[in-house]
Amino acid sequence: MINDYQQYLNEVDLLIKDHLNKNDVSSKVKESSLYSISAGGKKIRPLLLFKTLKALNFPLELGVPAAATIEMIHTYSLIHDDLPAMDNDDYRRGKLTNHKVYGEATAILAGDNLLTESIHLLSHANYNDAIKINLIQLITNAAGQFGMISGQMNDILSANKEIDYKTLENIHRYKTGKLIQAPVVAAAMIAGASNDIINNLNDFSGELGLLFQIKDDLLDVQGTQEELGKSVGTDEKNQTTTYVSLFGVEGAMDLLKEKETETKRLLYKLKDDIDIIHLEDIISIVVNRTK
Ligand code: IPE
Ligand code: IPE
Ligand code: MG
Ligand code: MG
Ligand code: MG
Repeated sequence: MINDYQQYLNEVDLLIKDHLNKNDVSSKVKESSLYSISAGGKKIRPLLLFKTLKALNFPLELGVPAAATIEMIHTYSLIHDDLPAMDNDDYRRGKLTNHKVYGEATAILAGDNLLTESIHLLSHANYNDAIKINLIQLITNAAGQFGMISGQMNDILSANKEIDYKTLENIHRYKTGKLIQAPVVAAAMIAGASNDIINNLNDFSGELGLLFQIKDDLLDVQGTQEELGKSVGTDEKNQTTTYVSLFGVEGAMDLLKEKETETKRLLYKLKDDIDIIHLEDIISIVVNRTK
């Protein structure tokens, strides 16, 4: 259950805050970075990292710096995603969006700051140099033009356009999937898992990322701002092509079921190599979440 992991999720939070607070000169960009970090969020990416370490029977403590790095990059992606030039949203994590409080210029800088400092934080982590280089390559690859950024770009370019299912899935593999895969594969690298295990974990978490985004698209029409903590109806407002706009609510729900089965199948492929029980419940957490 999530409670077994709470201690480590708290450590992630503390590490990020300590890092950002190191500079004792009070600065607005520090305050605005801390605003979005402190607003919380579900911490699903750090949780995935710790659950994968557990499945590999490796000490969870060693996941803290990598989880902090990924959570900082994810938080930056949300600050920028909410900007008027992107999704133009007013609420995130139960609070006003960063730019609504601090203004656009500071919000842009807070995103830049979190991205940059995430890698600086990782450079100080207590991993051997080979693992550290592998983690830096994995995480920057998942975040940049070969990862989340390319998905965000194609998401924007596809607005108001007729795109097919395959194109949509590809957008989501990048914009959401890459930063869901990163913590799972990072954990495997930290634990020194074999290439076979890493590849299978990569496939499983890629599918989990799609599942996560189908649910996100459904919640945008079915959820409430109160429960989600973020604006709803944004996709329709921006004419974003989503699973719901392509297939309707019922169709997207059917697809969610289909992808759930496929994600489970990919996880079961690992049953002789890792303790999959620790990752099984994350699938239902993603499918049944209400926020
Ligand atoms: C939202 O991510 C953005 C997507 C990739 C769909 P989360 O739903 O994980 O956001 P937080 O971290 O809980 O706020
Ligand atoms: C954005 O997807 C994914 C990111 C890379 C931030 P969405 O735009 O659907 O995320 P939400 O719904 O605003 O959280
Ligand atoms: Mg968006
Ligand atoms: Mg958005
Ligand atoms: Mg969304």
